[in-house]
Amino acid sequence: MLVTQQKVLRKFWYALMPMSALDAGPQPFTLLGENIVVWKGKDGKPAALRDRCCHRTAKLSKGFVENGNIVCGYHGWTYDCSGTCVRIPQSPDSRIPQGAQVPAYHCDERYGYVWVALEDPLQPIPYFPEEEAPGYRRILQFYERWNTSPLRVMENSFDNSHFSFVHKANFGMIDNPVPAKYEFRPNDWGFEAETHVPVRNPEASFRITGTTEPVTERHLTNRWYMPFSRRFGCVYPASGIHHIIYNCATPIDDGSLMLVQWLYRNDSEASCSTQELIDWDRPITSEDRDILEATDPDACVDTRRRVEFHMESDKPGLMMRRMLMDLLTRHGEEEAHNPPEAP
Ligand code: FES
Ligand code: CO
Repeated sequence: MLVTQQKVLRKFWYALMPMSALDAGPQPFTLLGENIVVWKGKDGKPAALRDRCCHRTAKLSKGFVENGNIVCGYHGWTYDCSGTCVRIPQSPDSRIPQGAQVPAYHCDERYGYVWVALEDPLQPIPYFPEEEAPGYRRILQFYERWNTSPLRVMENSFDNSHFSFVHKANFGMIDNPVPAKYEFRPNDWGFEAETHVPVRNPEASFRITGTTEPVTERHLTNRWYMPFSRRFGCVYPASGIHHIIYNCATPIDDGSLMLVQWLYRNDSEASCSTQELIDWDRPITSEDRDILEATDPDACVDTRRRVEFHMESDKPGLMMRRMLMDLLTRHGEEEAHNPPEAP
């Protein structure tokens, strides 16, 4: 699936960058192949426009913010949050040509982050209940560009077969390759999948897991939010510690995405510091990145094309592919893909 070609993907919210990035002024971002500019508007809320001035096409992200409006860095044409040109400094009588306008996008702040939908969204921004629940702290672990497909990131995170191999240097057990099975609870816009996974606990992991046992179970209640967000809901049963990760794999173009990772923990900074938690998940995520960047970024959703083989533990990924294929069909789209490789 070539994400930039599937118009329906424009109708979902994606996480772009931390709100704090806007303190440095307007920021560019490419979402589904579309160049956009994000800045902090008058009321402190983020705003997003196409990153192209309607005068001589300069990128507005080269400009600056004035009274909540964005000013083009080339000749100073000024736009409000709706994309309407409100000032042309060279016209003292302030006559503005009719239709002097830049396309605006849905833009909102949630979880300390800027979210954008290019067209009227079909679904709200994914809900993270831990944000409001008492006893949790939120940690932004990282955001970075990965050269792979967002669908592959999603299905990898539900794939219980990869732990023993990709994470063998970490919590995976290579001599125990038969994966745990999930119990599925599908809904119209994704699914919840619950399982118990045995894992190895390196000695250094006590402050993370709260256990000194060398092998324990993780109780996972994971969720997939169509198209490219997910929850990894991990509870360490021995200690009762919650290690709840949310990701949004925001599609940049047909070969890359911006992956953001938030963590919610129900313990205190004193029992495990923010930096310890970031350092704990870093090598695990890098292991996933390394293998996912070695896959074909054109992941197919139409499994009838038989360009990939499958096994039992691919069930979550196959459910995602089927539901995305249904979404395309409901919106009158065919799957766009690269020409098949020559035999
Ligand atoms: Fe933007 Fe001229 S190109 S003001
Ligand atoms: Co992994």
